[in-house]
Amino acid sequence: MKALKLLVFVRRKNLMSKRFFPILSLLLVLCCSLSFAAQTKSVDAEGHQWWQHAVFYEIYPRSYADSNNDGVGDLKGITSRMAYLHDLGVDAIWISPCFPSPQVDFGYDVSDYENIDPMYGTLADFDQMVAEGKNHHVSIILDFVVNHTSDQHAWFLDSRSSRTAPHRDWYIWRDGKGPGQPPNNWISTFGGSAWKFDPTTNQYYYHYFYAAQPDLNWRNPAVEKAMLDTTRWWYKRGVSGFRLDAVDTMFEDSALHDNRVLEGKNSQGDPNTDEKYNKKLPEMHVVLQKLRTVADEAGAVLIGETWTSNIDELKEYYGPNGNELQMPMDFMFTGVNKLSPPEFRRQIAQVDTAGGWPVFVISNHDIVRSYNRYGDGKNNDAIAKLMGAFYLTLRGTPIMYYGEEIGMENNDPKRKEDVKDPIGRTGWPQEIGRDGERTPMQWNTGVNAGFSKKEPWLPVPPSYKTHNVATESKDPNSVFSMYKKVLALRHTNEALLEGNYTALNEDDANVMSYLRSYKGKAVLVALNMSSSPQKVKFDLTGLGFRFHQLAPLVTTSQTSAKGLEVTLEPFGVFIGDVKNLDLPGVVVDRY
Ligand code: NOJ
Repeated sequence: MKALKLLVFVRRKNLMSKRFFPILSLLLVLCCSLSFAAQTKSVDAEGHQWWQHAVFYEIYPRSYADSNNDGVGDLKGITSRMAYLHDLGVDAIWISPCFPSPQVDFGYDVSDYENIDPMYGTLADFDQMVAEGKNHHVSIILDFVVNHTSDQHAWFLDSRSSRTAPHRDWYIWRDGKGPGQPPNNWISTFGGSAWKFDPTTNQYYYHYFYAAQPDLNWRNPAVEKAMLDTTRWWYKRGVSGFRLDAVDTMFEDSALHDNRVLEGKNSQGDPNTDEKYNKKLPEMHVVLQKLRTVADEAGAVLIGETWTSNIDELKEYYGPNGNELQMPMDFMFTGVNKLSPPEFRRQIAQVDTAGGWPVFVISNHDIVRSYNRYGDGKNNDAIAKLMGAFYLTLRGTPIMYYGEEIGMENNDPKRKEDVKDPIGRTGWPQEIGRDGERTPMQWNTGVNAGFSKKEPWLPVPPSYKTHNVATESKDPNSVFSMYKKVLALRHTNEALLEGNYTALNEDDANVMSYLRSYKGKAVLVALNMSSSPQKVKFDLTGLGFRFHQLAPLVTTSQTSAKGLEVTLEPFGVFIGDVKNLDLPGVVVDRY
């Protein structure tokens, strides 16, 4: 636009002389690049970027929508659901790995980073999905498996072929300590030693996950370059960011020190170790900064699979100058696992003041669904609505997990022979695997919940008859309707978009209450986390609201407000506007 105006001006003033031409061309290029930069990095008045106002939604592609009825979901299936996603209030979808893969770990074993697995479609289908996403304002985030490849990746096939192969040093190869003895005591999180002996070259290779997932050697600059180039390749194809898989496992101690053995055994029956020498090594931050530089060039966002045990660890992922991950996921929040207002308050206060932008998650493809984790077996739907109303109204970006919006439950395998997830097969019965949280999306009451005409790769639970998109969208009191209402509010209400978070009534052990306030406007959220009715009173005078009342915006059916008092049914939700009252003869102090 600016460039066009400049041209018109030049023409009008007849300035297009030979003398002026080079200067003007330069100005034109400058204008164009400035307006491009502004487009890709557009921020709002509060300095917030697109991903800070967006709602993200994780899709496990095997299980979302099956367009060709082979029992496994695909990209065309996702494309066909873009309108659904947009109507629900989703702005960006993170698709778990859809690249070519032997599927040993269902895509987290990539054999080609720059293609699509035929099971999911083609690159043309991918482009079509991006285009349809654009039409519906849904951005595409891919899952970048940075720590390891598949053992079928061309890099690894070459690497294992001889000690002098060009890709030998792209992975971590070492001699054993002695015959039949691995190089050290590191344990694979998927069971057994993290070292596998390869007879072709008589050395061991390192794998933090499954043996079919050899770790890349990020100390090799050629690996770094290939991986950074991969992100560039996808950005050019229209990707808006990446979720980075297992970032904390990228580097290992080169001297291979043994980890300290701790008490007890893990779910695979292996000794617990402190993982000091093969996890969370500081070198990973240098790589994250480089990935970020490339992401910034494309106006993209980096989300991290960042398991941390305390807030200081989480802070590190934002980078010393906010120059690493924009969105490291706060998994400590998923660790609360009970409806405990004091515990939630503590967690939120920590991440809210950590200096970065909070990222809230309550479920994903590795964690038992929130419906089961928080549900008490009797009030699961009410609790699912409460949890949605909760994390979707916090300050920060939420990442939903497909099916959460309809209260999908885990459908765990009952017999070892039914287990598909490798860790469930090796760890049964202590570790039953993650199949339960990865079952097909429940679209309607039809065959296989409308996911596929063929028997799906994992079975749908019987609850699909009541918990599905078609049925719930007709019921104003369903989990789905609560999600839709809250998501709509979140996209339009300034206090929810921009506002600060302030905990209210902090001594209350049953009701979680907080205020989101922005420039004299505020939304009050009160959530009854108990199974008995609750009455709560609020005093907001200390927060600048002198004469006010609460006006409901979204509530559960038997919850109401009178003046400054809210009456909540068991697990009831109240989200209301704080209305300032103009009383005659009183000057209302609005900040
Ligand atoms: C984390 C992923 O979320 C999980 O599903 C996968 O098995 C491991 N990383 C290995 O890539």
